[in-house]
Amino acid sequence: MAKITVGKDGRLVVPALSAAGHMAAQEVVVLESLDDGLALHVARPDVQHAYIEVTTRCNLDCAMCVRNAWTDAPGQMDWETFQAAMRSLSELSNAAASSHGGGLQRITFGGYGEPLGHPRILDMVAQASALGVGVTVTTNGLLLSGAMSKALLAARVDTIIVSLDTMHTQAYRQTGLTGGADRVLSNLVALSELRREQHLMVPRIGLAFVVTRSNLDELAQLPKLAGTLGASFVLVSNLLPHTPDLAGEILYDRHEPLPALPPWPVRSGDYVLYGVARLPRVKWGAERRCRFVEERAVVIGWDGAVMPCYALMHSYPCYIYGRRKNVTRYVLGNVREQPLADVWMSEEYVRFRAKVRDFRFASCVDCGIACSFAENNDDCRGNTPSCADCLFAQDIIRCP
Ligand SMILES: C[S@@+](CC[C@H](N)C(=O)[O-])C[C@H]1O[C@@H](n2cnc3c(N)ncnc32)[C@H](O)[C@@H]1O
Ligand code: SF4
Ligand code: SF4
Repeated sequence: MAKITVGKDGRLVVPALSAAGHMAAQEVVVLESLDDGLALHVARPDVQHAYIEVTTRCNLDCAMCVRNAWTDAPGQMDWETFQAAMRSLSELSNAAASSHGGGLQRITFGGYGEPLGHPRILDMVAQASALGVGVTVTTNGLLLSGAMSKALLAARVDTIIVSLDTMHTQAYRQTGLTGGADRVLSNLVALSELRREQHLMVPRIGLAFVVTRSNLDELAQLPKLAGTLGASFVLVSNLLPHTPDLAGEILYDRHEPLPALPPWPVRSGDYVLYGVARLPRVKWGAERRCRFVEERAVVIGWDGAVMPCYALMHSYPCYIYGRRKNVTRYVLGNVREQPLADVWMSEEYVRFRAKVRDFRFASCVDCGIACSFAENNDDCRGNTPSCADCLFAQDIIRCP
C-alpha cells in the first residue's frame, strides 16, 4: 500500500484506498493514536452474531450464576425495545449486504436469565428467523414442554442448547422442584422425537455443561447421554466463580487435562451423524483470542444496552485464580436511542475491537506483581475496561 503523508496544512494525505481494494467509497475510517504510530480502522456494519438477553429473570437459582452476585437491576425486555433491536439488526444486515456482503448470520437468545420465561419469546424467535438468519435459544430446559418445542419448531429455531449439569440439578432441589432433572430429560427426549417424526435435521440440540472439581467424574457420561437425547454437540465450560467458596471448584489451576470425550452417533433426519464435545482449555496460556470480537458478535441487554461480550454485560464480582475482580458493565450505546450500526461503528467501539484483536492488554494472571489495577478490571496499560485476565479469551470459559 502506498504511504500516507502529512501535508503542509497538517492534514493526512491518503492514497485512493478504494482503488487498491481496501475500501469502498463513503466508508468511514477511525483513526487511532498508538504508542508507536497511527492506526486506521475501517468501520463497517459487519455484525455477524447478535446475542439478545430478553430477560434476566429466571425460574431457577443456580449457585454458580452471576445473577446471585451482580449489582444490576433485573428486568425483562419490552416489545418496543425488541422491535428497536430487530429494526437495527435488519438495517445492519442490509447495509452489510450492499457494501461488503456477508452480514448478520445468527441471533442467539441467551445471556443470563431464562429466555423461555419471556412471555413473547415465540414471537421474538419467529421475528428473528424471518430475518433469514440462524436462531439459537439457550435454556435450562424446564419450560421446554412438548407444546413449547412444537411452537419453537414452527417459529423456525435452528439450535436449542440446554444446560444440564450438577449446578442446575442442585438448583432444582434447592427450589423444591422435585423431578426437575427428569422433566428436562423427558423434554429433550420429546424434542428429539418430534424432530425425528417430522424427518427434520433441525433444530440441532446441544447440551451445555459447566465442569467443576465436584462433577468432573460426570464428564465421561456426556457422550452417552447426548446420544440418548439426540444432541449433536456438547459444550463444556469451566466455572467462572463469583463467590470465594466456588473459587475452590475451578479445574484450570491444575496440570491434568480433561478426559477426551469420544464422538457419538446421532440420528439427524434420514442421516446418522457424529456428535462432538467441545472441551475448554484448562491452562492459562500465552495465546489470547476473543471469540466475541473475532466472530463479530454483539450483545444486546434486556434494557436495549449494547455490550461487546458476556464478560462485560453485567456488573459483578468474580475470582480469577483466587483474586477478586469487580467487573463493571461496559455499555457502548442503546438500541432504544440510536441505530445499532451507529453504536457498532462508533469510534470507541471500533477502537475497542481493534485493541482486542491485537490484544493490547497486560497479562495480569502471569505478571507476578500484586498491583491493584486488576481489582476493578483495569490494567497498567491504561485500559478501562481491560481484557487482561479474561478467561473467555483463553477459551477457559465458553458461552453457549
Ligand atoms: C446463564 S445461562 C442462561 C440460559 C439458561 N438460563 C441456562 O441456564 O441455560 C447460560 C449458560 O451460562 C452457564 N453459566 C452460568 N453461570 C456460569 C458460571 N459461573 N461459569 C460458567 N458458566 C456459567 C450456564 O450453565 C448456561 O449454560
Ligand atoms: S438457569 Fe441459567 S440463568 Fe437461571 S440461575 Fe441457572 S444458570 Fe442462571
Ligand atoms: S476478551 Fe473478554 S472481556 Fe474482552 S471483549 Fe473479549 S470476552 Fe469481553
